[in-house]
Amino acid sequence: MWNEKFNREDYLYGTEPNDFLRVASFVLNDDSKILCVAEGEGRNACFLAMQGHQVTAVDASEVGLAKAQQLAHAHKVEIETVVADLNDFDMGEQNWDAIVAIFCHLPPTLRQKVHHNITKALKPGGYYITESYTKQQINYGTGGPKDLELLLDLAEVQQQLNDLKWIHACEIEREIIEGSGHTGLGSVIQIIAQKPI
Ligand SMILES: C[S@@+](CC[C@H](N)C(=O)[O-])C[C@H]1O[C@@H](n2cnc3c(N)ncnc32)[C@H](O)[C@@H]1O
Repeated sequence: MWNEKFNREDYLYGTEPNDFLRVASFVLNDDSKILCVAEGEGRNACFLAMQGHQVTAVDASEVGLAKAQQLAHAHKVEIETVVADLNDFDMGEQNWDAIVAIFCHLPPTLRQKVHHNITKALKPGGYYITESYTKQQINYGTGGPKDLELLLDLAEVQQQLNDLKWIHACEIEREIIEGSGHTGLGSVIQIIAQKPI
């Protein structure tokens, strides 16, 4: 499904990074080793590489990640791309200074597994940064999955990531214009969390 969506000339969510990531990235230390999960066409990975970070992008869509490499080339930065399903991808242990998930909408069982893996895979002091649509987004029609199970609930996410320390965790309504995929007022959760040292 995602290969078909990304099989187009332009970038479905544009080539600019997500607004929340742009702000949240100020917490990152210089030259961080960062994993971007469900990174699609690579706009966020390229932004982080342009800030001087070492970035790996993982996604199940090879079409998306091929476009991510094209975008990196256009920006004269390097990113590593790994085509893998998050169900199988090994994030390792204490391996990343930060893990970023922007509009990563997974089925409940996989979501719980990925949250567990993220907690394990962050280095002590490492950051988890995410913005994703809430279950209320189903009423907005401005982007995101049409399936309630794939949409997020802040309390559930916090419960699954309860070994992390909350720096910022909120549910808000905001204007999201990202390519032709995200087209207006939406309901999102935003999180910056840190693994205790
Ligand atoms: C809404 S797009 C977001 C892409 C990117 N994070 C962005 O903000 O531009 C969702 C992405 O999740 C990826 N995805 C969905 N399920 C996945 C899975 N099980 N494993 C890996 N990637 C997955 C899709 O391939 C797609 O690229």
